[in-house]
Amino acid sequence: MKSRKPLVAGNWKMNGDIVTNEHLFTALRSALERASISQVDVVICPPFPYLGQAGAWLGDTGIAWGAQNVAAAANGALTGEVSVSMLADLGCGWAIVGHSERRTLLGETDEVVARKASMCVAGGLGVIACVGETLDEREADATEAVLARQVEALVPALQGADPARAVVAYEPVWAIGTGRTASPEMAQQAHAFIRARMAHAGVAGADAIRIVYGGSVKAANAMSLFSMPDVDGGLIGGASLVADEFLNICRAAAVA
Ligand code: 13P
Repeated sequence: MKSRKPLVAGNWKMNGDIVTNEHLFTALRSALERASISQVDVVICPPFPYLGQAGAWLGDTGIAWGAQNVAAAANGALTGEVSVSMLADLGCGWAIVGHSERRTLLGETDEVVARKASMCVAGGLGVIACVGETLDEREADATEAVLARQVEALVPALQGADPARAVVAYEPVWAIGTGRTASPEMAQQAHAFIRARMAHAGVAGADAIRIVYGGSVKAANAMSLFSMPDVDGGLIGGASLVADEFLNICRAAAVA
């Protein structure tokens, strides 16, 4: 049994509509209540417009809900952005920052991601900060250098964080949505490296901060990934939109 409580987060990305979400919320609610998976922290991250719906469906369950992004500034003239305080006001518990889709497609830098993570920590929002190398970087043997750079940028945010409310997600970009999962050994190696970097940089909670894996996690491969000593759960994309798949991933985290 690991000392860190596993966390499984569903990143719905830009998917869903009111009716489809309602089916998914209903299925998750009843199944997770029946299974009483209290040994796993479960977080559901729908798109912004459906956060209120998530709150209405999940607010009275043990299932937490979160945003997929947050502004890097507190408030003011920033059209289209959503702040930490607005999310907290809504009762939202978590935010994902630095997802590779935002880093690559929307140009978010390490510095911006770090600022977002710090805003979450300062505003009392749990943060899931994503890191991970591209295929080119892995093939050029640059995985550790990339992870070191990305983790280093997050250190000031992580230093001030409650370890129970700060999560690092290792998501190798080449494994996202491709069906090509990192092997459990590859994931473990990256997770151990990230933990060591945090400790080396003086993050007091380095041992307690959960490092979750993301990238083509399915019910079929969840158990082997989550059994690795430094893999503390998962950040799930496609499979989080399928109730049974996601529930079985949560069950795997509970027993891994
Ligand atoms: P997939 O599980 O669809 O590969 O996506 C992973 C991811 O990007 C979660 O944030």
